[in-house]
Order: sequence, then C-alpha cells, then structure tokens
Amino acid sequence: MTNTTVFPKDFLWGGATAANQMEGGFHEGNKGLNIADVLPGGKQRLRILAEPGFNFDIDTDKYTYPNHEAIDFYHRYKEDIALFAEMGFKVFRMSIAWTRIFPQGNELEPNEEGLAFYDRVFDELHKHGIEPVVTISHYEMPVNLVKEYGGWKSREVITFFERYAKAVLDRYKDKVKYWMTFNEINSGLVMPIMSLGFSIQPGEHKYQSVAQGLHHQFVASAKAVEYCHEVNPEAQIGCMIIYAPVYAFDSNPENVFYANQEARLFNNYCGDVMVRGAYPAFAKRFLKEQGVELEIEEGDLETIQKGKVDYIGFSYYMSRTEKAEKTEEEKAQGNMMSGVKNPFLQASDWGWEIDPLGLRIAMNDMYDRYQVPLFIVENGLGAYDKVEADGSVNDDYRIEYLRNHIQAMGEAIEDGVDLMGYTSWGCIDLVSASTGEYSKRYGFIYVDKHDDGSGTLERSRKKSFHWYKKVIASDGADL
Ligand code: BG6
Repeated sequence: MTNTTVFPKDFLWGGATAANQMEGGFHEGNKGLNIADVLPGGKQRLRILAEPGFNFDIDTDKYTYPNHEAIDFYHRYKEDIALFAEMGFKVFRMSIAWTRIFPQGNELEPNEEGLAFYDRVFDELHKHGIEPVVTISHYEMPVNLVKEYGGWKSREVITFFERYAKAVLDRYKDKVKYWMTFNEINSGLVMPIMSLGFSIQPGEHKYQSVAQGLHHQFVASAKAVEYCHEVNPEAQIGCMIIYAPVYAFDSNPENVFYANQEARLFNNYCGDVMVRGAYPAFAKRFLKEQGVELEIEEGDLETIQKGKVDYIGFSYYMSRTEKAEKTEEEKAQGNMMSGVKNPFLQASDWGWEIDPLGLRIAMNDMYDRYQVPLFIVENGLGAYDKVEADGSVNDDYRIEYLRNHIQAMGEAIEDGVDLMGYTSWGCIDLVSASTGEYSKRYGFIYVDKHDDGSGTLERSRKKSFHWYKKVIASDGADL
C-alpha cells in the first residue's frame, strides 16, 4: 500500500525492548536481583507481586521465572543486532538493567562487568550504524531498594538513582545520543509496584504514597536530565509516559467530565511536571481532595524546573473509554487501565482495544499541550503466532495493526506534529511484562521459546520482518 505522508528523511525508525524482558543472564556479570527477577511467569504475575506481604524472594518450587533466561540477548546480542540492521533500523530502544551497574542499588561504585556489557552492545549497534535509545529505568528496580527502603517512597532512593544515572551518563556520553529516564512513569498511578517499587498495603493511603514516590522520581529524573545536558549538550533526554486518550462513553456531561478528569490525571500529571517543569494547576485540588500532604524539600521545585526534558517518549497501545459509574460486566481489559468496553473497537486476544485513530488523537493532544518533539517508543500488537510446516510465520494481523498505526502517525505529522521517530514494541519476541508469557508475541523476529520453558531460542524472520524492512527503506511510503 502506498502512503502519501512524507516522513522526515532523518526519521528514527526502529524497534523497542527492555533489559529484563530480553537479556536473561540474570545472575551473570555480578548482576543483582531486580523486581523482574522475582516476577513469576503467568497471567497472575502482577497480582502476585502486588499482594500485600509478598516477600520479593525467588521460590522455584512454586513458580517459574521466565525473565531469568528471557530470550538470552545477553549472549546473543550480536546475532540480534545483525537482524535489526538487516531490517534497516536507524535506532534501537533498550534499557540498562540498574542491577548490572549497581547490583544492590546502594553501592558507592559501579560494577565494571555490567558497564562493559553495555559498551559491547553499544559498540555492536554502532558497527551497524544503529543509534541506541536508552531507558535508564524500565521496571527493574533493585530488589534490595524495594526491601530495605520501600522503593521510591524513600527519599534516599533519589541519591542512589542519581549515582546510577551519573555512572551511565558519564560512561556512555560518547555512545548514546537519546536517553529516557523512567519507563511509563505514570504507570505508578495505577500499578505502583513495577515502577515505584512498592505495593499498597491494606489500610495504606494510596495517593499519599504514590504522589510522594512520584515526586521523588520527578526530582531524580530532573537531576539526570540536567546532568545529561552537562556531560553531552548534543544528547537529548526525554520522559516516557503511557498515553491513552480517554473517550467519554456517551455525551452525558457526567461521563464527559469523568473521562476528562481521568485523562488529566493519567495522561498529563507526570508529563506536565517533566515537560513544563512545574506541577499543573489541577494537581493542587486533586492532592487536597485525596488528602495528600506532599513533602517537597527546599530546592525541589527549582530542580524540577531546571530539569525539563527535551522530548516526550510515549507508548501507545490503545485508547480508553470511560463512564462515571460502571458495572463489572462493562469493564474492559487493558494496559494497566480499565475503562469500559468501546462498542466501536475490536480488541486483541488479550483484550487490548485496537484504535489507530486514537494514536493521531494522542499525538495532537500532546503536541498542542507541550510543543516539544514526540517520540513513539512503544506500539504494537501482542498476538499468538503460528509457525507453519516450512517454518514461516504469516503474521498479516500484525502487519495490518502496524500499517494502520503508522498511517495514523503520518496523518498526525501532516496535522503539524513534530515526531522524531517510531520504535515498535518487542521488535524481537520477548517476555510479556504483564503476563510473563512468551506466547504473547510482538516481534518481527520469531524466537523459538515457549511458555512451558521449552524451545531452542533460535531466531527466524516473520512475514512482518520483510514488510517492516520495506517500510523503513521507503521512509514510510510503502506500507
Ligand atoms: C508497556 C511496557 O507497558 O507495554 C513494556 O513498557 C511491555 O515493558 C509493553 O512489555 C507490552 O505489554 P505486555 O504486557 O504485553 O508485555
């Protein structure tokens, strides 16, 4: 299909991953344990992790742990990077595992073996002309900081993160041009365990803990942004948020108002602080009504103001439809948020509603509000793939999903949005964050690994691999 949108010549086409979902080697190179290492496989994993009293220990009698081996990128990165290069990637989004660099999170000196591993990965990427796009923290907080400090509830964690961020920004200042601080920082509002490193205990005041934890992350992120600008003025560092436009279920003003409020909180609260460098006006009333007393130390607001990000990285999988009052049956499933089912949309096998136009809406909303460049750093379809007798995977459903979203993003560019690039999620099959399944596949590259732990880990090209290669080669014209 021919697309009429002209994508900028320097558009950053690529794919996205995270260390804990692909590296494996969970004990190698002196790496310490992180949250993903204690996440059991299976659909209930996030519920188990968030259970009050969960002890963050590994219990192999009870559970399996797919993230321990993941897809073994730790040993196979050369082969994988060669495949990305074959597709023509300009960029590759990955994250650094905090516990490879500071195994316990609170050491004074970084772990050289961990630093050397990422040197090798970045060098290999550059050998193929691929620029790394690096998330400093992607759902992989050191377990020691979770157990001993209560995760981001503790202000001390700012110091540990600052030390970690400085170590990687210093070390890789000549190798990495694109950075992001915290993956999907706003996920803390709904699922604090993955990004803030604590779960809400019975009787605990949810928003007091969450808003305070986020405040600590805002300060930590701002410090990293400032430091990044200092060590390499050419580098660009962004925030990373999950963005889902929120539609009202109908024109009842109650529902419109509710949807609007949800959107402001979920989509804008974190973005406003990190992009504009100040809490939004609506935060005051929200925090007051929730009975939150935020502890803001002297200098924090100046730090936040000085540490404004250069661009907004965001993930887009779906929109959300909301209603002030909803029954259990009306509820939809989704990436952390659950509104009500939208009668106009089809959903993936995991219940995530598919809405390419929502991406255009999201991009326009964000650009209108912030006027800084956007970068789509996650988007994709988690689906069951079937390997045919001849070894091929004919994933036309994935091609259709991506085609429609790329078209929508092209329309948003025509609308006037400044978009830096697009990295589709899970460009190589990896472990699902929410379910720990291998069978929820996003990749252009098939990995022979299965939910029961079997598989050779061999890589092969799906139909979408050849399609995406064409998309990149034609700069989005040949969809
Ligand atoms: C995003 C996360 O929320 O969605 C990724 O940043 C995650 O880590 C992706 O993998 C897709 O979600 P899932 O649960 O299908 O893996």
